[in-house]
Amino acid sequence: MQTEVAPNIKNDLLLQAAKGSPTKRPPVWLMRQAGRILPEYRKVRAKAGSFKNLVTNPELTAEVTLQPVDILGVDAAIIFSDILVIPEALGLPYEMVEKKGPFFPKTITSAADIEALKDIDPYTDIHYTIQGIKIVKEQLSGRVPLIGFAGAPFTIFAYMIEGSGSKTFSKARGFLYRYPELSKQLLQKITDATILYLNAQISAGANLVQVFDSWASILPEKQYKEFGLKYIHQICSSISKVPVTVFAKGVTHGFDLLADLPCETLGIDWNMNRSYAIEKAKNKTLQGNLDPCVLYADDQTIVGETLKMLDDFSDVPYIANLGHGVYPDTDPDKVKLFVETVKTYSHENK
Ligand code: CP3
Repeated sequence: MQTEVAPNIKNDLLLQAAKGSPTKRPPVWLMRQAGRILPEYRKVRAKAGSFKNLVTNPELTAEVTLQPVDILGVDAAIIFSDILVIPEALGLPYEMVEKKGPFFPKTITSAADIEALKDIDPYTDIHYTIQGIKIVKEQLSGRVPLIGFAGAPFTIFAYMIEGSGSKTFSKARGFLYRYPELSKQLLQKITDATILYLNAQISAGANLVQVFDSWASILPEKQYKEFGLKYIHQICSSISKVPVTVFAKGVTHGFDLLADLPCETLGIDWNMNRSYAIEKAKNKTLQGNLDPCVLYADDQTIVGETLKMLDDFSDVPYIANLGHGVYPDTDPDKVKLFVETVKTYSHENK
């Protein structure tokens, strides 16, 4: 868990904050900033023809990764890709169905299906994202850090069993009760692949990596320990060169367990009580928390809610962000207002 701040980065506020060092103001970026809201993104997306064409084309990947840095003025870039490249590399290809989301024609239903999964080599199986990172690094020329990412093993497991998003994830949760040992085998395969993939992203130039556990909150605490945290722990322990952020959305009851992970930063959603998070996070940096729906409000409300949040976190290492990804129909001008509000905030003027 070494957290050297990258020497060649001009604006390294994100890395400083992740390391727990005091910063003149909190760094700011938005989950899902690449894609989703910018008209400039939609143009490139239309040119690519489909989401998957965009993800697998390193030049276009680089272009949409840089857009939020240039247009929104955020303090970090996040590589444009998806958490679902891992199941695809393991042997379960996904489709991105327009207006519906991910769909897997083939899912995991048996021991034989798990046995048939491939050992991955990120440099060949996910070469497009690794190449995209290299291009982004060149084009960023050290302006801001680049964030790499992957899904947490349980969230990927849920997609591989379920075959799509779900309201209940009852197939995936049922699988844990029916086949606990098989579940562990599958989670281990996903974990091993994720470790290789994240380390390849870091070798290509990612300055920090974030693990998204979007479906963490559907498990009871005991199961989350056994089928969730244990594998995230392995991932955090395998990364030594850059800071790691774990965002386990909705995990409020087990937040003190997250605080024991060997990572630097913990993401928090908008349901998280701020003083509770600060108390439980011990020596970790916190990231996020603003309700993404605040960005639908009038300017005065956006500024007020943002400043209140910055004040509430002003005594601890903190990275400003939303409590989940920015919603697709958010006005980019409102996002700019949020970013500017953080950038003009000074810890001294509190
Ligand atoms: O943060 C970024 O902007 C980087 C790019 C990124 C994407 N997906 C691009 C994307 C990141 C970090 C992700 C992570 C991701 N993907 C998560 C974890 C974060 C979260 O939101 O909880 C999850 C659960 C997925 C799976 C996924 N991919 C879903 C459910 C969907 C459909 C609905 C949606 O969220 O947009 C996607 C598609 C997707 N991934 C899009 C983008 C820009 C939209 C596709 C399009 O342009 O048609």
